Amino acid sequence: MFSKEIYISRRRSLLELLRGEKGLALFIGNVEAPAQYKDNCYKFRQDSTWLYYWGIDEPRFAAVLDLETGKETIFADDVSIDDIIWMGPQPSVAEQAASVGVADSAPYSKLNLIVSEAIIKGRPVHTIPPSRWYNTLKLQSLGVDKPSEALIKAIIAMRLVKQSEEIAELDAAGVLGQKMHTVARKGIRIGRVEQEIVGEMEGVTLSEGWGVSFATILTQHGEVFHNHGHAAIIEPGKLMVIDAGAEGNSHYASDFTRTYPTSGKYTPKQRDLYQTVWECHELAFSLIKPGTAYRDVHLAACRHMLENLSQIGIVHGSIDDMMEIGVAGLFMPHGLGHNMGLDVHDMEDLGEDLVGYDPDQKRSKQLGLGSLRMARKLVPGNVITDEPGIYLIPDLIALWKKEGTDRGHVNYSLLEKEYLDFGGIRLEDDVLVTEDGARRLGGKRLPASADEIEEAMRLDKENN
Ligand code: GLY
Ligand code: MN
Repeated sequence: MFSKEIYISRRRSLLELLRGEKGLALFIGNVEAPAQYKDNCYKFRQDSTWLYYWGIDEPRFAAVLDLETGKETIFADDVSIDDIIWMGPQPSVAEQAASVGVADSAPYSKLNLIVSEAIIKGRPVHTIPPSRWYNTLKLQSLGVDKPSEALIKAIIAMRLVKQSEEIAELDAAGVLGQKMHTVARKGIRIGRVEQEIVGEMEGVTLSEGWGVSFATILTQHGEVFHNHGHAAIIEPGKLMVIDAGAEGNSHYASDFTRTYPTSGKYTPKQRDLYQTVWECHELAFSLIKPGTAYRDVHLAACRHMLENLSQIGIVHGSIDDMMEIGVAGLFMPHGLGHNMGLDVHDMEDLGEDLVGYDPDQKRSKQLGLGSLRMARKLVPGNVITDEPGIYLIPDLIALWKKEGTDRGHVNYSLLEKEYLDFGGIRLEDDVLVTEDGARRLGGKRLPASADEIEEAMRLDKENN
């Protein structure tokens, strides 16, 4: 948790952004979610917007901010003696409210009264789209289930630009994520089960932070994007995609991807495509600066990828034509990156397009570009991921061939002869947009080029 002055100042800025709006802004924190029965819950994770403005990392809190008077009230229940028996003594709601600079608190049940009073008086009640079912039902029961675009836009405007305290937390989450990845790389050995490495790397963030920032991807089938099965045995000659990140105790995230040759050395074919992804990764980073639209960085990476694939003989013809058709989407059917902060895909619960697109930008329908989650013109304080990849997805290749989507630019006979069991490659770092460019978050960068990765794996083996 930050100092109370930070939360006070964030709420003041929000009020300022919403000046002229009438009524109340309503914030609902998360509640415990039973895994099987009421007393056996999933690990508690607070709502991120709640954390940003109200800080209290405990279940079943809500708050109301009066947009006309500035009055703030936190709603939650003090613990009973029964709770104390099971949980030990707890600070009172009033003490917790005071710790984030809020003077007024009331029992949770009073929220219904305050909201219905406002509705009866015809005052607007501004809410955001809930990220959890409980809050969806809660808002329905309160009769305020239509989110407020004004509130959503004001929150997005603030959370998109990270403050220095947040950047420090993101750097720390980065260091922890890099530690996870280093442990994972050292664990790659033929014959081991993937799950063993997942356990080792997740143990790193569990012992120093909150846990993982999303379900770990560790797979020799990197062409399957969110492959969460880890039962496979590590085989020689494969590419292993490891996409994982840490969530620190303050809940800020990191998100890194590296792709390792399971045998310690890339085959020539793997190296060619790896080099292409690495060049796209470096190119993207070099282009990140205030004033540049991230959509254009995505497109520059796609263009470079097509140029290299053309040299390898996988595609042919005019690069401009291929860019127009969106041929890169066959090989990279995802966007170059996303915003990151308290959520690994920051604020996507508030609406992907509102978060990732400027008002004058329209989301493409093309495969790949259409999945770009961050297209905006960059400003200092934005935190984004830079994660190009190349994937050989047999079903997608067959579909494009059948439908002629590529209009003759793809060398299907080469793909079918040599690449259908290739897998996938992705590289990802976390990037802060600075006043005059960009810097990567975290500590010392993880090995990234093919030579750096092979050298690191050679040293791992030597030291084993
Ligand atoms: N690194 C996982 C994702 O961005 O979806
Ligand atoms: Mn990512």
